[in-house]
Amino acid sequence: MNKPLRIALTKGRLEKDTVALFEKLGYDCTAVREKGRKLILPIPDANLEVVLAKANDVITYVEHGVCDMGVVGKDTIMEMNGKFFEFLDLGFGKCRFALATKKGYDFYSGHGVKTIATKYPNVARTFFESKGMDVEIVKIEGSVELAPLLELSDGIVDIVETGTTLKENGLEVIEYISSISARMIVNTVSIKLRHEEIENLIKLVKECIEND
Ligand code: PRP
Repeated sequence: MNKPLRIALTKGRLEKDTVALFEKLGYDCTAVREKGRKLILPIPDANLEVVLAKANDVITYVEHGVCDMGVVGKDTIMEMNGKFFEFLDLGFGKCRFALATKKGYDFYSGHGVKTIATKYPNVARTFFESKGMDVEIVKIEGSVELAPLLELSDGIVDIVETGTTLKENGLEVIEYISSISARMIVNTVSIKLRHEEIENLIKLVKECIEND
């Protein structure tokens, strides 16, 4: 048998949803479910090796070819813009990018340059460039909703899933930017060298999603 295909999963929800998907395909994912603090785990009957990583690192590992495939959110893909193939929309991890402000704030009024706080500076820059609008972008690492509350920024560009975080902090969506979901990505060399195995796995996953 070939050495296992290595797949990097974004730790947390996308990891859990992917494992659930593999289990639907009949693969025994016990090692991943009972991983403890281990970061590389086998799914022997699928000849897969799961690597658990943070979203940005999933892309780095796949780009560098140390992982053949990865599961990562479209948000990270849009922000990082790496060199890999995006093969499949997995249909889970659904949320949206949005521009949000404090409730009732008239974001588009006035002539001054607005300040935007975000974990996704490239996404925010592209969004405002497409509007021909000059903004100052401040990179924040988490709980971006704090920035307008503390008056660091006029607005935020962030992920909205249920809308609860915005609501509970007195913020509201001004505009949705794009839809996000988990994607399966593949290294550009692996797709040539291990074409059959990768295509086969993608086909099985696709059928499973479509029959859901
Ligand atoms: C994300 C996002 C929002 C929140 C949106 O943050 O940045 O803060 O989830 O979800 P909701 O619309 O369902 O309330 P995450 O939980 O990843 O934490 P972070 O802000 O610390 O990155």
